[in-house]
Amino acid sequence: MINEDMPPVIDPTIPSAARIYDYFLGGKDNFPADRAAAERVMELGRLAGFNVRDMSRANRAYLARVVRTLAGAGIRQFVDIGAGLPTQQNVHQVAQAVAPEARVVYVDNDPIVLTHARALLADSPQTIAIEGDLREPGKILADPVIRAHIDFDQPVAILVMAILHFVKDDQHAADIMTTLCEGVPRGGYLAISHAYSELRVVETMDEAHQVYDRTNTGDFVHRPPAHLASWFTGLELLAPGAVPVELWRPTHDEWPGDPDNSGFLGAVGHKP
Ligand SMILES: C[S@@+](CC[C@H](N)C(=O)[O-])C[C@H]1O[C@@H](n2cnc3c(N)ncnc32)[C@H](O)[C@@H]1O
Repeated sequence: MINEDMPPVIDPTIPSAARIYDYFLGGKDNFPADRAAAERVMELGRLAGFNVRDMSRANRAYLARVVRTLAGAGIRQFVDIGAGLPTQQNVHQVAQAVAPEARVVYVDNDPIVLTHARALLADSPQTIAIEGDLREPGKILADPVIRAHIDFDQPVAILVMAILHFVKDDQHAADIMTTLCEGVPRGGYLAISHAYSELRVVETMDEAHQVYDRTNTGDFVHRPPAHLASWFTGLELLAPGAVPVELWRPTHDEWPGDPDNSGFLGAVGHKP
């Protein structure tokens, strides 16, 4: 865990996936290198006929719908891996609007995310932020700070939103999901979103991949719905299955995004 009294050592000249995404969402927690990378990806998207900002907002709206749905189903504990910089509709705010007693752990491997999260959470004892790496899921699940905050004898929802596509190796991604599936207690859930552009393989994507290759996470990969669905070992996928996030239980009172402009697939599994 980082020392909370010391500012994290960061190199602002290396674009960060968290800060690029923050820029897509209209946030201010980003540096010139992040904005330049984000603007280039948005421009490449425009050339290919899609809107990267709307894709990101739709992913964020899906995240909020999932948390609201699971809190409505009685879940009171959330572990959000790859939490990202605080923005609108953060997991603890959405969950606690349904159930004020809900407890949340944010996990991220970007120190600047943790600094911002902790500043936001200074007066929210039910919510904590810790450093952890998705590529070591066993370590996250065994982390004593998480175990002190979350009771794994009770149902827990593990959220892995817009991050698994940074794990390039298929077998490694599948192994991570297997460990997380095993870590979900009975009655709990595992929810993911994942980059998706299967129907829209266009030349401009090559340069977008190069832009991400120069970030702190490296490049990302696309995977099709059946591939994602196969990762939920021992869990039952909630309807409507692995689908573009805009189609995952949209509501009439909130903008779910445009399915024709989808950049992310979503899927939520339940351990009976
Ligand atoms: C695109 S943001 C997604 C934020 C949020 N989950 C959402 O969907 O709105 C991806 C986040 O994952 C984090 N991340 C990337 N690779 C990671 C890893 N191996 N372990 C932990 N966090 C990681 C980044 O720092 C960033 O905050």
